[in-house]
Amino acid sequence: MSIGIIGAGNIGSAFARALARNGIAATIANSRGPETLAELTAELAPHITAGTIEEAAKADMVLIAVPWSKLPAALSGLPDWAGRIVIDANNPIEGPLFKPAELGGRLSSEIVAGLVPGARLVKAFNHLLANLVSADPKAEGGNRVLFYSGDDAQAKAEVGALITRLGFAGIDLGTLKVGGSLTQFPGGPLPALNLVKFG
Ligand SMILES: NC(=O)c1ccc[n+]([C@@H]2O[C@H](COP(=O)([O-])OP(=O)(O)OC[C@H]3O[C@@H](n4cnc5c(N)ncnc54)[C@H](OP(=O)(O)O)[C@@H]3O)[C@@H](O)[C@H]2O)c1
Repeated sequence: MSIGIIGAGNIGSAFARALARNGIAATIANSRGPETLAELTAELAPHITAGTIEEAAKADMVLIAVPWSKLPAALSGLPDWAGRIVIDANNPIEGPLFKPAELGGRLSSEIVAGLVPGARLVKAFNHLLANLVSADPKAEGGNRVLFYSGDDAQAKAEVGALITRLGFAGIDLGTLKVGGSLTQFPGGPLPALNLVKFG
């Protein structure tokens, strides 16, 4: 299963660090082009390589972590996702104002799903601060919890397996409607909680 990452900022690079620590390869992309990611790829060689957005989007599983207002530009012009898995790590709020985006009563992941036609979307990696995504998930004698949710059981199982392989305690919150509301930031009760599961 190949992995792509669109967005190489706090969350994209934290996810890349978690992958590299576990010897998992991925292609990472930003808006400015692969050559601007030389420092990150040198740190995470040989596992993480830089590519274009098109190259990262071709992977079997693609984590998207881009500021909310930039998502349409980042995802426009890509071919149909043809059943490939998208991990939605995005939240509908961004600096410098940190004013919640207008969602018109929808969940943010429902809006992201509309930007990646044909993808099987799983919401994950959006509720922890980036430094906890890249940190060792073994903590306090247990494993740091990472929630995920989605409507496609197989896609969710694949993301759940990756979360386990990274050393987190994955907790499946169910459908996007249920899990997406619980982990929605701002608004849901779960974001920013640093929880550890024992046993
Ligand atoms: N920061 C956190 O702790 C945290 C936690 C959970 C969830 N999130 C969510 O994760 C997402 C990313 O947040 P972040 O803090 O990682 O943001 P960030 O540090 O500002 O990084 C944003 C990344 O998106 C890229 N990008 C911007 N416009 C793009 C475009 N048109 N095409 C391709 N790439 C583009 C940027 O590339 P360039 O630098 O080349 O422009 C950069 O690599 C947001 O939705 C945020 O809500 C963040």
